[in-house]
Amino acid sequence: MEDQTKFKLQVKAIYRLLLGIFGLFAIAAFTILVILLNPNMLKKSNSQIEEIAVEYTAVPSEEDFDKIENGIHVRTGLVDAEGLMTVVNNCTNCHSAKLVTQNKMNKERWISTIRWMQETQNLWDLGPNEDIIINYLVTNYPPTKKGRRENLKNIEWYTLN
Ligand code: HEC
Repeated sequence: MEDQTKFKLQVKAIYRLLLGIFGLFAIAAFTILVILLNPNMLKKSNSQIEEIAVEYTAVPSEEDFDKIENGIHVRTGLVDAEGLMTVVNNCTNCHSAKLVTQNKMNKERWISTIRWMQETQNLWDLGPNEDIIINYLVTNYPPTKKGRRENLKNIEWYTLN
C-alpha cells in the first residue's frame, strides 16, 4: 500500500514537471510566433524615437536652405543674380557674406584679394568659377565711384562790384 502511494506521488510530480515544461514551451512558441508575424514590433521604440527626433530638429528643408525672398538669398543676404550659387558655395564657407559685399572693389582688386586668400588663408583654386564670381561681384556690388563730391549746380553767383 505504501509503495502504491509513493508511486502515485512520483507520477504526480512527473506530471506536474511535464505540465510546467509544456507551459514554458507554449509561451516560448507563442512569443516566437508573434515576433515572426510582426517583426516591426521589436523596432517600434527606436522608430518612435527617430520620429520624435525628426520632429524636433529645426533643420531647414533643402528648399528653405537656399530660399530667395524679394531678390535676396535669405541665408547669406546676397543679391539673387547670375553666379549667386557659385559665390555662396565658394565665398561664404570661411567668413560671413557681409565681408564679401561690404568690400566694393573693381575686378583687379577682387583678383588680388582672391590671390591673397589663396596664398595666406587656404582658399582653394577657383578654376573657371573665378570669372563667374568676379563678374557677380563687380556687377552687383560695384565700387562706388564718388571719390570726390559732385560739382555744385544752380549756384546763384553774386556780382562783385
Ligand atoms: C578658405 C577660407 C576662405 C574662403 C573660402 C574665402 N575666404 Fe575671404 N577671407 C578668408 C579669411 C581668413 C579672411 C580674413 C578674415 C579677417 O580678416 O577677419 C578673408 C577676408 C576676405 C575679405 C576681406 C579682405 C580684406 O582686405 O579685408 C574679402 C573681401 C573676402 N575675404 C572675400 C572673399 C571672396 C569673394 C571669397 C570667394 C571667392 C572668399 N573670400 C572666400 C578666408 C576665406
